[in-house]
Amino acid sequence: MLIKRRPSWALPESEVTPKSIYLNRRRFMTGTIASAASLALPGLLQASETSSATRPLDYRAAPKFSTDEKKTPLDAVTRYNNFYEFGTDKGDPARYAGEMSVDPWSVDVEGECGRPGRYSLEDLLKPHDYEERIYRLRCVEAWSMVIPWVGVPLAAVLKQLEPTSRARYVYFETLHDPKQMRGQRSLFSTIEWPYREGLRMDEAMNELSFLAVGLYGETLPNQNGAPIRLVVPWKYGFKSIKSIVRIRFMEEQPKTSWEMIAPNEYGFYANVNPDVDHPRWSQKRERRLPSGVLRPNWIETAKFNGYAEQVAHLYKEMDLSRFY
Ligand code: MTE
Repeated sequence: MLIKRRPSWALPESEVTPKSIYLNRRRFMTGTIASAASLALPGLLQASETSSATRPLDYRAAPKFSTDEKKTPLDAVTRYNNFYEFGTDKGDPARYAGEMSVDPWSVDVEGECGRPGRYSLEDLLKPHDYEERIYRLRCVEAWSMVIPWVGVPLAAVLKQLEPTSRARYVYFETLHDPKQMRGQRSLFSTIEWPYREGLRMDEAMNELSFLAVGLYGETLPNQNGAPIRLVVPWKYGFKSIKSIVRIRFMEEQPKTSWEMIAPNEYGFYANVNPDVDHPRWSQKRERRLPSGVLRPNWIETAKFNGYAEQVAHLYKEMDLSRFY
């Protein structure tokens, strides 16, 4: 008999929002948010409604990971975004990410691995069952959300690509297509496109690292990084790169976008850490969204965003004020 160990951050299934609530929400959402195109993903349920809406994902048989904190309402999750490819205003991604086509989608796999090549998204995901993970997301700008993602563990996908013993890092790139991404056409952009991110291999193989293809039980809206994005919940949100088109296994530490822009402000590691302030603001607290002028909803920031039990061992020998 197969007995699955329930990790310490998992909640019983009964405490997770029932699917009927997602489906009701979906009716409400239809036509109001930028759409993810229809994806022939494994386990996808037949959508009975309009083809321009996000679609329900089937993850019923999978384990669920959670927190007892209140989930951030869908409206905030999909309308308050950072996705500089579509502009720097928090509302720009919801406004303009619908201009990006996400079907078909392929991911180039390169570098130190046994199975390089161009994979359709469907082939990359086919061997894996979807599961739900309800994670805190803490932005370096000191706001945070609690988001129910649907996707697959990053480790499972990377293992299938057979990294060699020389692979010490894994690097990711977002789509670079100024025709579809108006932020990449801007003359004022500080980012050298494409958006780039990376993890050390042991970070990437940690059980928390996740590739999301959905949220709130539906395919990812474009503004949240459709059709596939990284979610690394113990690191500042900028590590969670959206709309991934390239995965490269590397011997050397890759250059990453925010580190390239301002290395004194944003490091490669970017672990959430209330003891190491950003040079221009404190990281001790965060605004848990939704928040407003009258009710800013400040809460204390936890080290590793509350995931120390799962990840602190990765940094045992490191001075985290130097490797920020
Ligand atoms: N990925 C790309 N390609 N471009 C971006 O501008 N912004 C990052 C991250 N991933 C960003 C990105 C930042 S700063 C944050 S906080 C999160 O996405 C926000 O994710 P969300 O909009 O889904 O909440």
